[in-house]
Amino acid sequence: MTKEKQQWGSRVGLILAMAGNAVGLGNFLRFPVQAVNNGGGAFIIPYLFCFLAMGIPLLWIEWSMGRFGGKHGNHSTPFILNTMSKRAMWKYIGVFGIFTNIGVAAYYCYIESWTLSYVFHSVARTFDGMSQSQVAQFFADYVDIGKSTMGIPYEAVVFYVICLALNTFILSRGLKGVEKVAKIGMPLLIIFGIVLAIRGLTLGTSGASIEVPNASAIDGLNFLWTPQFDSLANPKVWLAAAGQVFFTLSVGMGTIQCYASYLSSKDDVALNGVTSGFTNEFVEVVLGSSIVIPIAAGYLGLDWVKENAGFGMAFQTMPFLFEKWGAVLAVVAGVMWFGLLFFAGITSSLAMGTPWMGFMHDEFGWGRNKGALSFGLIILVLGLPTVFFFNQGVFDEYDYWAGTVSLVVFAMLETILFVWIFGMNKGWREINLGADLKLPVIYKYVMMVLTPVMLIAVFLASMFTPKDNDWKRAFSGDWVLDNSSIIKQITNAGLKEKLAAATDPVLISELQEKIMYINGARILLVGLFVAISVLVYIAHRNHQKQKHNL
Ligand code: TRP
Repeated sequence: MTKEKQQWGSRVGLILAMAGNAVGLGNFLRFPVQAVNNGGGAFIIPYLFCFLAMGIPLLWIEWSMGRFGGKHGNHSTPFILNTMSKRAMWKYIGVFGIFTNIGVAAYYCYIESWTLSYVFHSVARTFDGMSQSQVAQFFADYVDIGKSTMGIPYEAVVFYVICLALNTFILSRGLKGVEKVAKIGMPLLIIFGIVLAIRGLTLGTSGASIEVPNASAIDGLNFLWTPQFDSLANPKVWLAAAGQVFFTLSVGMGTIQCYASYLSSKDDVALNGVTSGFTNEFVEVVLGSSIVIPIAAGYLGLDWVKENAGFGMAFQTMPFLFEKWGAVLAVVAGVMWFGLLFFAGITSSLAMGTPWMGFMHDEFGWGRNKGALSFGLIILVLGLPTVFFFNQGVFDEYDYWAGTVSLVVFAMLETILFVWIFGMNKGWREINLGADLKLPVIYKYVMMVLTPVMLIAVFLASMFTPKDNDWKRAFSGDWVLDNSSIIKQITNAGLKEKLAAATDPVLISELQEKIMYINGARILLVGLFVAISVLVYIAHRNHQKQKHNL
């Protein structure tokens, strides 16, 4: 078995790759939606608090954990965790750090492929002369596989496959390939973002004449940035804020550990960790909030934005609004906006491929080509259901289990391992080893107490969310679970209630069909988790055999 040693080319390359991992579709599509749905300014304080109290500590934990594992020749979480505690259970908990990446990539690459397709349609002037409802219908037809938007049969599938092929090809070039894409993509993304943000913010009230009287881009910003302190008492907002912080920083996923495992043992993790974290926050809170929401609010009014928060804003509305800027600017803005989303997406989806490739390389000697190709094929098989059954809820099911629940579970468990089992003194030494930044000592105590306690609280609150988020009633002894709690989600309680109440036969069969697809999606995800666990078991047995032969 020839083990070719991979390493990052340069510090700039490493930081851009790590920032590229973090900066993703979540910054531009998920963050604005979460902020709007959770009351705008009401969201921001819990969000920033979660960033400081959980986000930053998790970055340091994962960076140092990864570097520590890499020193022992491990590049994926099952055996990174195994180097930190010999208890057998930890390597199976480490399965999350491969599972999440594959589960998320399967639907994430689908969104990524939309952006590719929309770059194409912006250049082809597809949206020229379309009304707002026609642009919206275009998206609806696009994701409704049977229909065709402009004559390309199975267009969504075609672009999905192209997108996967691109990811597979770059991954087959190894870390150098990832680094190169980040070095080109990240600066372009930031430039495109700044140009669009300036355009969005200078729109002022110029939208007024178009759709809604008195609509103004500034209304959108005010809504997002006027803090409201009453939300601090609302656990639902805290849950959403914590979830967004995990998703956007890529913590609790296993990718940061994988990237950091390719550092040398004396390389800094303290400064690098915060630098990539703050780069992500700049892109998220400054650029992410200055494009879609102000532009949509400027033309369509804030009320429209509040009612339509979702993918609709990015894909069903922006191309129409860009057309208001004249032919040339419409093409330029379309290419910048969807190009920006594409670069944001691909630098993240590449990261999702690396834990699998690192694992198969470490444990089974698979080279880069084999690793990349197998990743591409797995994503194709798991991803096609999200493409074909998008409207039946498969996509959302993946997003919920792999992209939401699994991050919280893994972040909680790895933090417990790091601060309480591996031990905070040892952990603190690891983080400070080779550090180019003097860490504030208070963070040692934040990590030891506040971070794990908050993670456990977030986990329990998601597990047992009380009905209507009425925590007062719950704590007074009347704890009825809400349908949004993880426990009720497992049993499909919400859908079943709807089914029981339905009388219209069309609706009944629709709901039955939906439950069937959701269960199918779960079987795939559980199957994936079990399959990776089996690989970990085989790898573990191989290690033991090797020990005996020594
Ligand atoms: N942080 C990325 C975003 O904001 C998403 C992401 C990157 C991710 N790497 C990941 C999600 C690994 C799951 C697993 O869009």
